[in-house]
Amino acid sequence: MQLNKKSKIFIAGHKGMVGSSIVRHFKKRGYKNLFFINRKSLDLIDQKKTYLSIKKIRPDFVIIAAAKVGGISINNDQKGKFIYENIMIQTNLIHSSFLAGVKKLIFLGSSCIYPKHSKQPIKEEYLMTGKLEETNDSYAIAKIAGFKMCEAYNKQYKTNYICLMPPNLYGPNDNYNLKTSHFFPALIAKTHQALRNKTKMIKIWGDGTPKRELMYVDDLADACEFFLKKKTNHSLINIGSGEEKSILGYCKFIIKKLNTSLKITFDKKKPNGTPRKKLDTSLAQKYGWKSKYNLNKGFDLTYKDYIKKIKS
Ligand SMILES: NC(=O)c1ccc[n+]([C@@H]2O[C@H](COP(=O)([O-])OP(=O)(O)OC[C@H]3O[C@@H](n4cnc5c(N)ncnc54)[C@H](OP(=O)(O)O)[C@@H]3O)[C@@H](O)[C@H]2O)c1
Repeated sequence: MQLNKKSKIFIAGHKGMVGSSIVRHFKKRGYKNLFFINRKSLDLIDQKKTYLSIKKIRPDFVIIAAAKVGGISINNDQKGKFIYENIMIQTNLIHSSFLAGVKKLIFLGSSCIYPKHSKQPIKEEYLMTGKLEETNDSYAIAKIAGFKMCEAYNKQYKTNYICLMPPNLYGPNDNYNLKTSHFFPALIAKTHQALRNKTKMIKIWGDGTPKRELMYVDDLADACEFFLKKKTNHSLINIGSGEEKSILGYCKFIIKKLNTSLKITFDKKKPNGTPRKKLDTSLAQKYGWKSKYNLNKGFDLTYKDYIKKIKS
């Protein structure tokens, strides 16, 4: 079935940063039949309830934006939860979708599941060619299992389940809790707090050298629509912005954007994580997709949302 404005689309994780962006995007583009269920009514770890809910909706398309997600600290501290919850959520959703006759589904991986010391830029074929970053190996193993499940179902059952691999994301509705957040929202929150508290100093984790590719979340929502529409014969597709800086570079960028000057210090006892994870997006480009937001524009939209969030 071709994606059209009347297609029934089930979005799992619609309240998260990515899920809410996908809902905004599809609503704006005029899709009329979007389905989502609140976590209180459906815990996606529950296999039977997940199956019954999907069977009742009978969606044409499914997008999986539900997952247990977080930055380096919580990934490292809650390895058990990360592997269990992610494997359960994705397995329940992928298998229930298959049983309900869903032919096309999008699952989300992440650049952080490629090998820690992968060749750069990272091509899809480098997955599982080396050791994982130890602070997020539980999350990575779960996500690799999700991709492998999509690939296996495509081979055995002739489905078209695609795993999109985005880099670090940021945007409206991000998580700014310093204990659980990713590096970029943490840098925004720390810089804002330093300004508010007039401390004139900001401390960042590690030595600031790791490089990160960052993509505005609405680009991912756009890619979800694009690849639901597109006939593809790949189960794994990298998507990215090409925008890359060191952690220190991003910190300086935010300080400059907020028109201030802060002393940057380093907490070198904290882990650096993977040194670099720049995605090779030539496959996505061959299909005709490319990112639309640059960091400057994405940051302005994100910071506006952050200020609204902390004021409410
Ligand atoms: N953020 C990034 O930088 C990034 C980068 C690459 C890939 N991704 C991928 O993008 C996807 C979404 O990430 P995100 O940043 O949007 O995370 P998020 O903001 O934490 O959103 C995750 C969503 O999943 C829901 N969820 C978690 N466990 C659930 C359960 N047991 N039952 C029902 N719902 C559950 C959460 O519900 P509640 O709101 O009720 O908790 C939330 O709505 C993930 O697959 C992630 O791997 C994210």
